[in-house]
Amino acid sequence: MSVNRCVHLFSRLQRHLNTRTSRITAGGCRVTSGSSLLVQQYPTGSAVFCRGNGSSPKPPDTSLFVPISLKTDDLDDGSVGAELTQPLDKNELLKVLNRFYKRKEMQKLAADQGLDARLFHQAFISFRKYVLEMVSLPADLHIILNDIIFGAGHIDDIYPYFMRHAKQIFPMLDCMDDLRKISDLRVPANWYPEARAIHRKVIFHAGPTNSGKTYHAIQRYLAAKSGVYCGPLKLLAHEIFEKSNSANVPCDLVTGEERTFVDPEGRAAGHVACTIEMCNVTTPFEVAVIDEIQMIKDPSRGWAWTRALLGLCAEEIHVCGEPAAVDFIRELMYTTGEEVEVHTYERLTPLSILDNAVESLDNLSPGDCIVCFSKNDIYSLSRQIEAKGLECAVIYGSLPPGTKLSQAKKFNDPDDPCKILVATDAIGMGLNLSIKRIIFNSLVKPNINEKGEKHMETISTSQALQIAGRAGRFSSKFKEGEVTTMNRDDLPVLKEVLSQSVDPIQTAGLHPTADHIEMFAYHLPDSSLSNLIDIFVSLSQVDGLYFVCNIDDFKFLADMIQHIPLNLRSRYVFCTAPINKRQPFVCTSFLKFARQFSRDEPLTFSWVCRHIGWPPTPPKNIKDLVHLEAVHDVLDLYLWLSYRFMDMFPDTASVRESQRTLDDVIQQGVQNITRLIRSSDPNFTDPLQTQRNALDQTRNFQVAARNILPTKSRGLRGSKERIDSTLTNRLVRDGLLTPDLLRQLQREWSQTQKQQVGQGSPSAEQINKNDRRKKKK
Ligand SMILES: Nc1ncnc2c1ncn2[C@@H]1O[C@H](COP(=O)(O)OP(=O)(O)O)[C@@H](O)[C@H]1O
Ligand SMILES: [Mg+2]
Repeated sequence: MSVNRCVHLFSRLQRHLNTRTSRITAGGCRVTSGSSLLVQQYPTGSAVFCRGNGSSPKPPDTSLFVPISLKTDDLDDGSVGAELTQPLDKNELLKVLNRFYKRKEMQKLAADQGLDARLFHQAFISFRKYVLEMVSLPADLHIILNDIIFGAGHIDDIYPYFMRHAKQIFPMLDCMDDLRKISDLRVPANWYPEARAIHRKVIFHAGPTNSGKTYHAIQRYLAAKSGVYCGPLKLLAHEIFEKSNSANVPCDLVTGEERTFVDPEGRAAGHVACTIEMCNVTTPFEVAVIDEIQMIKDPSRGWAWTRALLGLCAEEIHVCGEPAAVDFIRELMYTTGEEVEVHTYERLTPLSILDNAVESLDNLSPGDCIVCFSKNDIYSLSRQIEAKGLECAVIYGSLPPGTKLSQAKKFNDPDDPCKILVATDAIGMGLNLSIKRIIFNSLVKPNINEKGEKHMETISTSQALQIAGRAGRFSSKFKEGEVTTMNRDDLPVLKEVLSQSVDPIQTAGLHPTADHIEMFAYHLPDSSLSNLIDIFVSLSQVDGLYFVCNIDDFKFLADMIQHIPLNLRSRYVFCTAPINKRQPFVCTSFLKFARQFSRDEPLTFSWVCRHIGWPPTPPKNIKDLVHLEAVHDVLDLYLWLSYRFMDMFPDTASVRESQRTLDDVIQQGVQNITRLIRSSDPNFTDPLQTQRNALDQTRNFQVAARNILPTKSRGLRGSKERIDSTLTNRLVRDGLLTPDLLRQLQREWSQTQKQQVGQGSPSAEQINKNDRRKKKK
């Protein structure tokens, strides 16, 4: 090698070593513009305090740290190292690296830098691959490794290079403090400086369903100069919008998919009725009404109530809801230093639990509402009711609002022959219904818990009260409400559920905002949105009064469009769209919308028409009806997105118009629902018959089980027998145990008994023999 070449290489090496050393030793967090955002978000000197859990930050869930793949081009130093020393022997290199991996001291040192055993292992594998597979390593690393191989260096000298690599593939290690700070959700009251800048009076209207809570709050709202009503459903927002305008109090309507300004020139009215997620927390109002406050504990939507309660900028905040929320709201308001005045109401009409179940559809009477927790049961029951020559209305969650209203109108109309309603618990809130008697078809409902897991469980006292409370509406013709069950076995369960007190609310939901996620993304630019959310939730700290809402739906959508190139804000907005992920057609449409959007091509009406197959044909069977409901949801999605990206979703007027047409087509379909059911699957099972069969099976099974059970254990069962049989019945009836499974259980049970007998328990025959012998003696 020439002297000149030597000098050149040496100078390059020195430069390289200097920069690398400074990078390795700097080691601290990046100072980011995110920090200034944090300062804005958590102003100092605020009077807010928190019921702190005061604990040290929890360790991160490192299983969520997805290593990023490195771009190796900028690490290439040419072959400087090799020229200065010699090419490295890969066998020797492997031995050296594996010795490094086993060094306990290195593992401990790395752990201090946030690399737990899992990350250490992952980082090492990545580092080893990098060292062995790189054509030429950076000169400094090459020289160090060469020295170690030849005994001129210590194996621990690898550590800084290993750590540098680890921080490159796990960038979160270098900014953990910042990430923790961003995901610190302990003082949510401080996120709303406008609300904290005024003193608000909180009035809690507490009482059961139909006690006039909302009525009283709305009286105050109508009397105020300005007001905002925040409700859990579009239908409720609509109801207040109409009530307010017909009381000559101009009121606008804001839902995720609709903005209606009463002023022809589009100027905002003093009053606004909105769905709670849409409420504006920066506009000042005289009165704000937050309806159904107990939903603050809802695992998915609870955050919207928390935001409204802490953030609404109104002199008076009227919250309406279950008495079980009073103490909690008081406690929440301690953190903002605001007093809560409680107004308690009693039901306006009496409600009684009947002593008899309905048992047969022959016993239905006008004003009955059968409540089911599955759409299939709705279809089947309505068919059977109509087969008996009775007309019935049908209401379930996924019907468009116009259809729901028309079905409610039909049922409420004293001149309409339709006197029976079959509905899901969608009737629990939001529709004016003249119901005399609520009949629970079942008491088991699929539920999603705080972890996002779905399971069947008996409805809670709160849910049962909410639904039962719909019977005997104050202003309807039925001045007394009644509640019972369809099946005899369910009635004691219902009585028990309704006799229990509602669990007091203990926590309120929170969720990360777009700002939170944007700041996270700044630190972790290569992570997917879904991964960012996961890391956020795992690092987040909440005060004992709160929980982080389940964001599975958000993550589901984020994963679905991860491969589509979108900027973070747009991606975030798309993923907050309220869509039903169980509807494949809606999900596909969501994906298509996102793709078209990413191409910067406006989603025109004609484009949408091609996608949804417009115009719609009247449904011929239930499958068609379900599809039309999904198409309606897709149009809802369009409208929802159009308010977030106006330029890209320009044809709102046409889409709204077609949605109305579609609502009419669906209405026609629902009116003919019996015909649709008949022309659907011929194997369509009717749940009542299934229940009857299952009950027969259950009874046989119980008789069999009783015959098999030893006398002593039979005695022990005694008082519990009713409960056990109810449980089995319910399991069968609710489809958790099929007749086949039941038969199998019977077989297995007999086999177990036989085996026990074979293993030494005396058989009945033997016992008899022994007895005879004893008698002889
Ligand atoms: N004082 C009242 N005067 C007239 N109608 C009332 C009064 N209180 C309640 N209502 C009516 O009774 C029904 C139930 O009242 P609502 O406020 O919805 O009950 P809650 O919110 O407690 O479930 C509504 O139709 C409401 O308009
Ligand atoms: Mg109410």
